[in-house]
Amino acid sequence: MFTINDFKIEYRQAPIGLDVEKPRFSWTMTSPKQEVKQQEYRMVVKANEVLVWDSGACQSDASHLVEYAGDELRPLTTYQVMLEVLNNYGEKASITSNFETGLMDYKNMKADWITVHNEGREEVPIFRKYFKVQGEVAKARIYASALGVYELSLNGNKVGDYYFTPGWTSYHHRIQYQAYDITELLKQTKEDNKLDMTVANGWFKGIFGLESSPNNYGDKIAAIAYVRVEYEDGSIEEFGTDNSWSCFTGETITSEMYLGECIDKTISETEFGEVELYSFPKTVLVAQENEQVKITKKIKPIKSLVTPKGETVIDFGQNMAGFVCCKLKQPKGTKITIKHAEVLDKEGNFYTENLRAAAPDDMFICSGSEDVFMPRFTFHGFRYIAIDGLVNTWDIQDFTACALHTDMEETGTFTCSNAKVNRLQKNIEWGQRSNFLDIPTDCPQRDERLGWTGDAQVFARTAAFNFNTALFFTKWLKDLSTEQTRKYGVPYIVPNILGETDAATGWGDAATIIPWTMYLVYGDRRILENQYESMKDWVEYIHSKTEGPELWQQGFQFGDWVALDKEEGSDRVGATDVYFIASAFYAYSTSLLIETAKILGKNEDAEKYQQLYERIITDFRAEYITQKGRLVSETQTGCILALHFDLAEEKDRPRILKSLVENLKRHDNHLVTGFLGTPYLCQTLSENGYHQLAGEVFLKEDFPSWLYTVNMGATTMWERWNSINPDGNFDESGMNSFNHYAYGSIGDWMYQNLAGIRLIEPAYKRFMIKPELIGGISWVEASFKSAYGRIKSKWSFEKNIFSMDVEVPVNTEAEIWLIHSDKPILVGSGSYHFEFVTGQSI
Ligand code: BGC
Repeated sequence: MFTINDFKIEYRQAPIGLDVEKPRFSWTMTSPKQEVKQQEYRMVVKANEVLVWDSGACQSDASHLVEYAGDELRPLTTYQVMLEVLNNYGEKASITSNFETGLMDYKNMKADWITVHNEGREEVPIFRKYFKVQGEVAKARIYASALGVYELSLNGNKVGDYYFTPGWTSYHHRIQYQAYDITELLKQTKEDNKLDMTVANGWFKGIFGLESSPNNYGDKIAAIAYVRVEYEDGSIEEFGTDNSWSCFTGETITSEMYLGECIDKTISETEFGEVELYSFPKTVLVAQENEQVKITKKIKPIKSLVTPKGETVIDFGQNMAGFVCCKLKQPKGTKITIKHAEVLDKEGNFYTENLRAAAPDDMFICSGSEDVFMPRFTFHGFRYIAIDGLVNTWDIQDFTACALHTDMEETGTFTCSNAKVNRLQKNIEWGQRSNFLDIPTDCPQRDERLGWTGDAQVFARTAAFNFNTALFFTKWLKDLSTEQTRKYGVPYIVPNILGETDAATGWGDAATIIPWTMYLVYGDRRILENQYESMKDWVEYIHSKTEGPELWQQGFQFGDWVALDKEEGSDRVGATDVYFIASAFYAYSTSLLIETAKILGKNEDAEKYQQLYERIITDFRAEYITQKGRLVSETQTGCILALHFDLAEEKDRPRILKSLVENLKRHDNHLVTGFLGTPYLCQTLSENGYHQLAGEVFLKEDFPSWLYTVNMGATTMWERWNSINPDGNFDESGMNSFNHYAYGSIGDWMYQNLAGIRLIEPAYKRFMIKPELIGGISWVEASFKSAYGRIKSKWSFEKNIFSMDVEVPVNTEAEIWLIHSDKPILVGSGSYHFEFVTGQSI
């Protein structure tokens, strides 16, 4: 049957608290038939039976991000949506959904910021209010936010399943509020409802940043909440935080992101102090923009062990970001400490040196009865825990690791005939799970966990295969533009708590590369519109750094960060000339700006930046490519960037390619690239006729390579190729995280080249399935849930038989390229199977 699935409003299902003036609707369709297209759609939107928009019958195949064009939306209102679709076979399908607007305007937050005097005190305060409902409740909502991180509970039940709300944004400009449906949690009698809002220091006031300093945004925590109850008779009751609230201490004694949480089950609540109104602008309040952070997986231990040093350790078998929840029955007052680590050292001891100033120890003080302990306002990067203080016997099954991250929809799957590659794919996914925690962090364990722009940039394309990152990056990019300045460019980290420093290449380019990537993958023009000024400012910033030639040749650069071709002392920038890289990215960012200007119809800009681009290219060639086509910085990364960003004249490309191939050969076909060269290494080889070599580099199992890390037992991506050296020693302790996703950027090539899923038009409206086989892999099965539905590519090549299964979503077209064929088969939606015998090898 022809059906509509997955009806989404602003990428979400039936959202509440939506503050988007013109929300966009997206749907996918399925049908058992082939070549199915949408021919017509009609959308009707009502609020309480009153029509606010009827699109009429639109002869259009648009089914993704169709913009609302009805009456102005009102705040705090539920809208019903009805969609009807007609396909090219004359079949109809329909679906209904709804969405509810949020405050729409900060003035509708009928509440004040409240705080409590907590100077010199570490306890985590609970703001409290009792209230009654007066009649039959139709719906009840809470809109809440905090300076700090908060959790709401109503009558003892956690409200919502989110963590670390309100998330991390550029707090002095934007703080998200969250909307909660509390209808079911209310006591609908005349009994008191107890509403608690616990606020910990979090990113706002907590100890955080490279200096591990407190008060990054302010020296007070605060809460704001607005409760709105709508009765069946249409009357409204509402109240908000004010100085009639009270404040208590609870069982959470302390909580800091870097330092863990202490929970004491022996103490009873006491009054914290007087609640005061707090003067902080409400104008900064914006609705929640991305998916919330949730516990997405609960993992049971695989074993317990006692280390040579005598530590009692539990191994969860998977490195992750999150915390451990445990059930304990220990004598009253027993203090249990849980330490967290990513790895054991060579001797098998618990290793925490790489956490630097972070001391992520949770402490639980037992009541004497059976206690369940679970931190709420801290997280750790760990695979192992060491437990100290147990008196009674305990059961390993009473410990559960909770993995936490932004709850993005999983969109990609990739498996193949090589088990180690499959583990690598898992490691890439876990790198993302652990580091897409409200913002894209570099790592989840040490005293950083910061939104390093470069890391996010290099991984963005792969990230968008594995999970839907549209909202995640929409939100973060808004903070990026908020914090970007003409003078300093794009900060190293977003949100920025490092202060003002000149920008760096490859990091600041997040401003152009990520919006462009989002546009390609999701066809989301609004991201380009929102980010256009930021993209332009970034190019203008670089332009302001040029003197004479149109090249970026000054200032501090991270270069090809942690590349292996030069690691002397603390110099981690790699051997590639940093200004060669800076100028290469200057050209690339400018080219993306030109494309964006064209799409947005900004023709004057497009022309202006085209001229700039040509000057950059001319000056780049004059400076960095000799007359005979030799690169000045002939490293792997140098050659990769020159080729992939198309910086050289056609006549010079063969020589540069040769240099790359020879360089690889000198390393026995191992990579030595850092953050900026690695994402494009295999791609560059594949697109220049060296796909088998790309395969060889990819499948290397000894140091340095992706599968080397798998062989060394990695369950996430490492920060460095040599995080653990072949002799089992750690390379260094200061900069050595076992959960950095940057080198996971190979995922893009795995999906695009090995599985062959490549877009032709944004959002995969048209795409190709063009697998490129490599020696050592005999089958691949991959899928990607695109904006139009699931794309699948499955091929195998064994005993001269090539077979391929492809799925093409309704309302799309695909080019299918079978091996050894020089032209594609054009198909519409449906499932297709191909199989043939071939005498030719790959
Ligand atoms: C981070 C990196 C980051 C870098 C800047 C490090 O401390 O962990 O991933 O991009 O600094 O070079």
